[in-house]
Amino acid sequence: MRRIAFALLASALSLSAVAQTKPAAQTTLAATPPMGWNSWNWFAGKVTQEDVKAAADLIVSSGMRDAGYVYVNIDDTWEGKRDANGVLHTNEKFPDMKALADYVHSKGLKLGIYSSPGDQTCAKYEGSLGHEQQDADLYASWGIDYLKYDLCGFGKEMNSKAPGDRLKQNQMMHDAYEKMHQALLKTGRPIVYSLCQYGFDSVWQWGPSVGANLWRTTGDVQANWASIALIGKTQIGLSKYAGPGHWNDPDMLEVGNGKLSLDENRAHMGMWAMLAAPLLAGNNLTQLTPEVTGILTNREVLAIDQDKLGKQAERVYQEGPIEIWSRPLADGGVALSVINFGEDENFVRGISLHLKEAGVKPGMKARDIWNAKDLGAIKDDYKYSLKRHQMLLLRFSK
Ligand code: GAL
Repeated sequence: MRRIAFALLASALSLSAVAQTKPAAQTTLAATPPMGWNSWNWFAGKVTQEDVKAAADLIVSSGMRDAGYVYVNIDDTWEGKRDANGVLHTNEKFPDMKALADYVHSKGLKLGIYSSPGDQTCAKYEGSLGHEQQDADLYASWGIDYLKYDLCGFGKEMNSKAPGDRLKQNQMMHDAYEKMHQALLKTGRPIVYSLCQYGFDSVWQWGPSVGANLWRTTGDVQANWASIALIGKTQIGLSKYAGPGHWNDPDMLEVGNGKLSLDENRAHMGMWAMLAAPLLAGNNLTQLTPEVTGILTNREVLAIDQDKLGKQAERVYQEGPIEIWSRPLADGGVALSVINFGEDENFVRGISLHLKEAGVKPGMKARDIWNAKDLGAIKDDYKYSLKRHQMLLLRFSK
């Protein structure tokens, strides 16, 4: 009798173990590239708690949340001073971080925050050096869901402890990122871990080993086409490092910022989607226009970015200023983009689509996403023309 009871108990326990492990597996952090909004590109050092609350409201009312933008990320300049116990406090721009987190959560959104492994952040606010666990615990106590950890101030540490020794400096950098990774794990709270060190030491090769869910591959993006185009074009060769739970991050979106034209905003958004990039809008949501909202929430573009296969695009072909990139999709289809990076106002040239090289099988049907038009089964000689900075974005399905 006791034996049976024991066996029953054991099987109940193993069942409950299965029941407990299953949801964890299903909720892999950043199973698809994280989507949300970040304060830096628009507000930079001026961001306040009220701005972040307003952003959360607007993400909901604009339909961005329902399109998948769930992280509301506070970048640098929220930090105050440490007290006698080393506990970090917010500065006067953020009077109550816990209340802010509760507010953001009440809207069905998540809250992200920013720090540095150095003693100071890039904007010279307090960093986490020597207080990693204390800070991770603080974030968890507030209910933080995402941390962007920016190398910046740690450079000083690397230079003073290992002057001129690049290898040792790199090791220090790895260790610093691993330290915060362990601290975050210890909190027991799932916190997306975003590395920001501009791609130093080929971060894509070691980012996953220090628990990174995403890592910046470049310096800071700017709200102009030259910056966006340069970043987009230089992501060649990185696709093999990205996948569910760990993504290359070509930096946040500038869609809606600066003087980007409709074509440039679309090409920027489309490139990032092709690259399986994290999509963190960086624009002023109080000035959203229908055009910008339409680009940011285009479900077909987002479906490419968020495709479950998680395969980032690679370049198939380049002819002069025209580049063709493609990525395979989970349904067996293919996404293909053609961008005219040239400056000629009306550069029209017969560029073949290179469908076979792009992985498109004969008979697959194409859809022109930006023009929301089904094209049927097209061939390499499909006729299209691209103005400067314009993108043709095609999705091929069986
Ligand atoms: C930079 C970083 C930017 C922003 C800024 C804040 O190093 O690349 O994205 O976070 O610091 O000071």
